[in-house]
Amino acid sequence: MQISFVAPSDITAGAWVVGAGEGGALLPAAARADKASGGALSRALKVSRFTGKPGQMLEVLAPAGAKASRLLLVGLGKSESLDEKALETLGARIAGRLYAAGETLASLEIDVPKNAKVKKAELAAHLAFGARLKSYAFDKYRTKNLDEFEKKLKTVRIVSSDVAAAKKAYAGLDAVADGIFLARDLVNEPPNILYPEEFARRAKQALTKLGVKVEVLGETEMKKRGFGALLGVGQGSARESQLVVMQWNGGKKSGKPVALVGKGVCFDSGGLSIKVGAGMQGMKGDMAGAACVTGTILALATRKARVNAVGVIGLVENMPDGGAFRPDDVLTSLSGQTIEVLNTDAEGRLVLADALTYTQRRFEPKAVIDLATLTGAIVQTLGYEHAGVFSNNDDLVKHIQAAGRHTGERVWQLPLDPFYDKMIRSKIADMKNIGGANSGSITAAQFLLRFIEKDTPWAHLDIAGVAWQDGEQKPTIPSWGTGWGVRLLNRLMKEHYEA
Ligand code: BES
Ligand code: MN
Ligand code: ZN
Repeated sequence: MQISFVAPSDITAGAWVVGAGEGGALLPAAARADKASGGALSRALKVSRFTGKPGQMLEVLAPAGAKASRLLLVGLGKSESLDEKALETLGARIAGRLYAAGETLASLEIDVPKNAKVKKAELAAHLAFGARLKSYAFDKYRTKNLDEFEKKLKTVRIVSSDVAAAKKAYAGLDAVADGIFLARDLVNEPPNILYPEEFARRAKQALTKLGVKVEVLGETEMKKRGFGALLGVGQGSARESQLVVMQWNGGKKSGKPVALVGKGVCFDSGGLSIKVGAGMQGMKGDMAGAACVTGTILALATRKARVNAVGVIGLVENMPDGGAFRPDDVLTSLSGQTIEVLNTDAEGRLVLADALTYTQRRFEPKAVIDLATLTGAIVQTLGYEHAGVFSNNDDLVKHIQAAGRHTGERVWQLPLDPFYDKMIRSKIADMKNIGGANSGSITAAQFLLRFIEKDTPWAHLDIAGVAWQDGEQKPTIPSWGTGWGVRLLNRLMKEHYEA
């Protein structure tokens, strides 16, 4: 989808998309479209149920008098509730409607309603962002009916009386969309195609050209350094495990980085503690934490964010074979702490443990945020609307929650407590990798906390419920992989860590 920002002028082709406030009152551009079509819009209004509710639409095809192929009147709802999120949803809904119609060209001329808090340039930029997010598709493995799947809307013009400001406001969002699309692509790729080495190759290819320093550690290097926990998980796979380190240094030379750490289990069969069939489906997405980290670094580098950020992702495949790690094995982690493995399906925490230790010892980051599709229990607890957050630092949690509220990626805090830590005591090693039957997301987080050194501000996001969507599709998320977290982390960096 080609998005451009243009000054108002006559609309001579394609869809002319205009707005109405709650109650159905035509905004200025809508009134002009009505006039140009000899009152077609107001006549259509009279015979419709259109009331201007957010996302409501009224379409007039081939209006006599106007050169546009169609007029599309869009409800903006109450002007007070018209914020960035609402505009993105609106942009996505408009794009969706025009995809369904088979339209190829659209001009969006939506005025800022009276009393709206949002500025002209932001309105234009967030409408555009929403339309772009909706343009995502993952159709590369289709060979049939391509025409039916093709998104024909190729050109979207956002009409604004302040083109320069709109362009500027959009530039950063376009970079974020790039990051989200990379994350979605990585999550959507099947696991026979995207295994650890391929993930590492793609990260390197996407990021190096943007000025990100990308290093890849293979099994030989990790063995030498003592990544016993991460390597234990990958041991039963025919694919080599990898650790990818991505450094974006856009901030001060001396400044310590913010670290993002991601779980990258390219496929989670459960290992010898093998999952049942239904539970294994979708486990190609068990690398969504790593995908989010990679997409965020891409967004930061693309918009040349003035921040030092490092992304570290542990990439493995959890498979059962004669060489696989077993329940009852004891692994020695990079930190030196020993772990009794009682369930090979609790593998994400093992991967993260070594990635966290490596990140802290090498970079001494001012904060560490890890993202992981870590537990099924978080899906039972919070469903699909919130990620869970666990942290040793209240300020960090508040900042993450505020960023998520702003972007629509909501985060709910759950507790850490020595009581839960007791649940992962092992009879023979420093800890075991599972707790009891209950509070599974919390004991997983307690496990990670044992790998946080010197009270480094740390937050763990359990994204198992939000990383992909099986049921209802959100307007701005037209695929399985959601790209959850890229927007949130980008916002967090912007608000709290950028110069
Ligand atoms: N990757 C899964 C968690 C998961 C489940 C993500 C469903 C997305 C949807 C993780 O590795 C896992 O298997 N966790 C186990 C832990 C248990 C063995 C302690 C779980 O949640 O059942
Ligand atoms: Mn598992
Ligand atoms: Zn897993």
